[in-house]
Amino acid sequence: STLTLSRTSASPTPRPKVHENGVACKDPAAVVAEDFLFGGLDKPGGKTSKRFGFTANQVQIPGLNTLGESHVHLDVVPGGVFPVHYHPRAAETALVLEGSVYFGFVSSYPDNKLYAKVLRKGDVFAVPQGLVHFLYNNGTAPATLYASLSSQNPGLVLLGNSLFAGALPDDLVAKTLLTDAHTVQTIKANFRRS
Ligand SMILES: *[C@@H]1O[C@H](CO)[C@@H](O)[C@H](O)[C@H]1NC(C)=O
Repeated sequence: STLTLSRTSASPTPRPKVHENGVACKDPAAVVAEDFLFGGLDKPGGKTSKRFGFTANQVQIPGLNTLGESHVHLDVVPGGVFPVHYHPRAAETALVLEGSVYFGFVSSYPDNKLYAKVLRKGDVFAVPQGLVHFLYNNGTAPATLYASLSSQNPGLVLLGNSLFAGALPDDLVAKTLLTDAHTVQTIKANFRRS
């Protein structure tokens, strides 16, 4: 259900081991207006994180295949966060559609400078590619955002998960965080609990 010029070779291409940025092609003659449309963003939907209090809905627009962008619709309950993370392959701009959120990013080492704002309805904030950022609905009303990313495959690294949901040894994580292994085990247990 996507759109690019299709390969016309007679023999089928073997499936490559390397992943392509984009999916299979659609016959241009079969393209319709719906390939460029995504409706229903006035309603919440998509992947819900009860633990963190948000719902993320990938905005799938087939007509953008290979064009190097992607879009997400986010609903965040009061008290909810999109936890501290970064996108290795994309800059991001986020537009607040409803409510208000504390949103920002941290510059790279050694400055680690915080650039953050309380955003209100109608505000847009930008995050340069690869920088650690967050979204925190510390207000009292639900918030809705529309985020655009400058890659079709932006990638997502959640710092908490990298450190506490993966296989890094407890003592290594403890040394990284200047703490003790017991503290690391406590946090790891929180990550295991769903
Ligand atoms: C949200 O947090 C920011 C940063 O700490 C603060 O400036 C703002 O007042 C907070 N908003 C509310 C509603 O407490």
